[in-house]
Amino acid sequence: MAADKGAFPRIVILTGAGVSAESGLGTFRDKDGLWTKYDLEEVATPQGFARNPALVHDFYNARRANLLGAAPNAAHDALARLQAARPAAVTLVTQNVDDLHERAGAQDVIHMHGELMRARCAACGHVWDAPQVMAPNDPCPACGAPATRPDVVWFGEFPYHMDRIAEALAQADLFVAIGTSGQVYPAAGFVEEAAMSGARTLELNLEPTTARFDEHRSGPASRIVPAWVAELLD
Ligand code: APR
Repeated sequence: MAADKGAFPRIVILTGAGVSAESGLGTFRDKDGLWTKYDLEEVATPQGFARNPALVHDFYNARRANLLGAAPNAAHDALARLQAARPAAVTLVTQNVDDLHERAGAQDVIHMHGELMRARCAACGHVWDAPQVMAPNDPCPACGAPATRPDVVWFGEFPYHMDRIAEALAQADLFVAIGTSGQVYPAAGFVEEAAMSGARTLELNLEPTTARFDEHRSGPASRIVPAWVAELLD
């Protein structure tokens, strides 16, 4: 834990789809998860987008519509509370492309897989707030090129903010993975990276996903995340 007993630990939190599951957003690999309904090769790779951009936009338009009807749950609220109480101690990294952490009040959320509510121009790199419905050949508002796409990191693409995440993991006293199956790298390797820097590691999930954490707490995020935050703050 922290260098001296009294200091609050420097915490890196990594969230995955499980933190938004109780807000009604699908996870990927659970029973009836998104990857049981869609072929990720078709809707979450650059090759799939090049082959059929209309299908990919339909997939993300449907997820955007779903997100607009969703609300943060008690887990998002608790993490925002923790960060507000100890802003210098908490780094919040998410694999999720939803904006529920922000809608719960979290600041400076590190979206390593991009954001559903943002669009990007593949020609000039311009990024802007996505319209609810995107279509192939929508012109980029900056350069006009018909090269717009969701600002989401697809399989085979490099996640965002990796330097900043590596720096936070190197200084962490505690690494907490919440609602992630730990199947997708580089996020799945953060627990080892943190442990190598001497951090204690904790997993909050419906059930343990791996033996690689020092501690596991099992249960729905909306119950076990507020309980964990209350322990830290009270
Ligand atoms: N509370 C806590 N954990 C939950 C809950 C819940 N209510 N519901 C599900 N979970 C857990 C599951 O046990 C599982 O470990 O959430 C995890 C969801 O795993 P995945 O569906 O694989 O989602 P995630 O780990 O976020 O996927 C990582 O893969 O497809 C890519 O880019 C996509 O960011 C995503 C990445």
